[in-house]
Amino acid sequence: MTATPEDIKKAVALLKEGKLIAFPTETVYGLGGNALSDDAVAEIFAVKDRPQFNPLIVHVRSLEDANHHVEFNKTALVLARKFWPGPLTLVLPRRKDCQLSLLVSAGMNTVAVRMPAHPLAQALLHEAQMPIAAPSANRSGRISPTEAAHVREELGGRITMILDGGPCQIGIESTVVDMTGNVPVILRPGSVTEEQIVEIAGPLASSKSSDIKSPGMLASHYAPNKPLRLNATHVNIDEALLAFGHNIPPNTLQVENLSPTGNLHEAAANLFRMLRHLDASHAKSIAAMPIPEEGLGIAINDRLKRAATPPTKE
Ligand code: TXA
Ligand code: MG
Repeated sequence: MTATPEDIKKAVALLKEGKLIAFPTETVYGLGGNALSDDAVAEIFAVKDRPQFNPLIVHVRSLEDANHHVEFNKTALVLARKFWPGPLTLVLPRRKDCQLSLLVSAGMNTVAVRMPAHPLAQALLHEAQMPIAAPSANRSGRISPTEAAHVREELGGRITMILDGGPCQIGIESTVVDMTGNVPVILRPGSVTEEQIVEIAGPLASSKSSDIKSPGMLASHYAPNKPLRLNATHVNIDEALLAFGHNIPPNTLQVENLSPTGNLHEAAANLFRMLRHLDASHAKSIAAMPIPEEGLGIAINDRLKRAATPPTKE
């Protein structure tokens, strides 16, 4: 472990400026940003070249901290007490007053939280006193880095700092368990095994079980309640407008502008919050202006397309 307390202080200063840093966890290296900042989270997607806004794991320093942001049910509490700190990620409902960026939830009402066991990750979280959103520190479509040198190969030149904690002990990502239903569901297998979870939590839902709230919808995505019309160049009388850029068609109802200057980074940071505002408006439906299909615009368009398509039932 070569990172000094000064290195950690420097990393925290960067995080507070909204910058990203890479840091080791016991599973793989993470690409970390302030989970309270839409802007920092948008930067994570930009740096990874992710064509989609997948929800991200929020790393916390304690169960108490996690409890500020999400609601634990009994089983989730038992699992956290048993496996935290460690490679278990729990997907839980956001609290009503949850301050975490909506972009870490990809617009949904849930957040994946985990308390990492790596001493350097813990030192970072303690010094920062903020929740840290961190996907694996690789570019999209590539394998997760388990050494600082891998991170440099993947992201060198794109981020300001890599905290070197040596090779990761576990080397595969955390187990992700959806705890929002009556019965836990493993969304991603990892180093905490199904048997270990069953021993503590009882039987899991299988894909055939009626206990799953909405089969086939587990890797769900945000969709507004109102119909959403894409690539709008005019606005109908009963539509609210999700605008982009300065050249906005005439309209009468509520408007939210993703980025008046046409900045895709700003648009990504605003996307889910603004969609929610428009969904809560008096308009009958929502019209979204075209977004350029480049950079973060690819992920924005991916999510808009999904939001415009009603979820399919199995
Ligand atoms: O070991 C790990 O988990 C590493 C280290 C850095 O902590 N992180 C990691 O993050 O692997 P990422 O972003 O590469 O993977 C996160 C996984 C994805 O499969 C994502 O779909 C799922 O967690 N996930 C995150 N938030 C979710 C949510 N609200 N609902 C359902 N799945 C979620
Ligand atoms: Mg990953």
